[in-house]
Amino acid sequence: MSLTIKEGETLGLMGPSGCGKSTLARILLRLIPADSGEVLYKGKNYRGLSGKQMLPFRKEVQLISQRPQSFFDPSMKLGKSMIEPLKIFGLYEKTYSEEIIAQTLYKVKLNDSLLERYPHQVSGGEIQRLSICRALLLNPKVLILDEATSMLDISVQAQILHILKDLKKTQSISYLFISHDRKVVEWMSDRVLEMKQGKIIK
Ligand SMILES: Nc1ncnc2c1ncn2[C@@H]1O[C@H](COP(=O)(O)OP(=O)(O)OP(=O)(O)O)[C@@H](O)[C@H]1O
Ligand SMILES: [Mg+2]
Repeated sequence: MSLTIKEGETLGLMGPSGCGKSTLARILLRLIPADSGEVLYKGKNYRGLSGKQMLPFRKEVQLISQRPQSFFDPSMKLGKSMIEPLKIFGLYEKTYSEEIIAQTLYKVKLNDSLLERYPHQVSGGEIQRLSICRALLLNPKVLILDEATSMLDISVQAQILHILKDLKKTQSISYLFISHDRKVVEWMSDRVLEMKQGKIIK
C-alpha cells in the first residue's frame, strides 16, 4: 500500500477486523518494522536512528488507542502520569507545565480534580480524554487514533469526536483516524481509505 497523510488533514482508514489497520498504525509509529517499503515523516526516513535521534518523531507523532488504560501506570496518580512525557522530553517546568495542563484539560472538557485519582477511579470516557490531553501536551503534529472511541457508548463517543474536531480549529494537527465504523470515519475525515486483507482497496 501507499498513502500520504497531509499536513492538517484527517485521513480516515476503515476496514474489517483483522485487515491490518492496527498493524499499519504500529508500522507508521515505528513500533514494529515493515517487512518491506518505507515510512517517511516530513520527507525523512527515521529507520535505524538511535533513541535520541528518534525523540522529535516520538514527540510529534502520538498514538491514541482503544485501550487508554494501558497507557497509564495503575499505581500512579493520573496527575503524575500526565507529566511523565513532559519530563521525558525535557519540557517540564512546574508552574508553566501546571498552567498548560490546566488549559489542555479544559480543551478536553475535564476537571483537574481527576488528576488526584488513580486510573481505576475514572470512567472509560474520562481516561480516553486524559490520554488525548497527555498527547496534546507534547504539541504533536500527528495523532494516530486507532479505534479511539470504539469501546465507548454512543454519547461519550460523540463527545470525544466533537472534541477532536474542535481541536483542529485552533491548532494545525493531522489525524489518521482508524475505525471499523464507516459512519464515524466518514463524519470525521476529509478523505477516507478503505482496507481489506492488508491492502488499500479504495
Ligand atoms: N504481532 C503479530 N504477529 C503476527 N500476526 C499479527 C500480529 N499482530 C497482528 N497480527 C495479525 O495481523 C492481522 C491484522 O491485525 P490488526 O490488529 O492489524 O487488524 P485490525 O485491522 O486492526 O483489526 P481490528 O479492527 O480488530 O482492530 C490479524 O490477522 C492479526 O492476527
Ligand atoms: Mg485494530
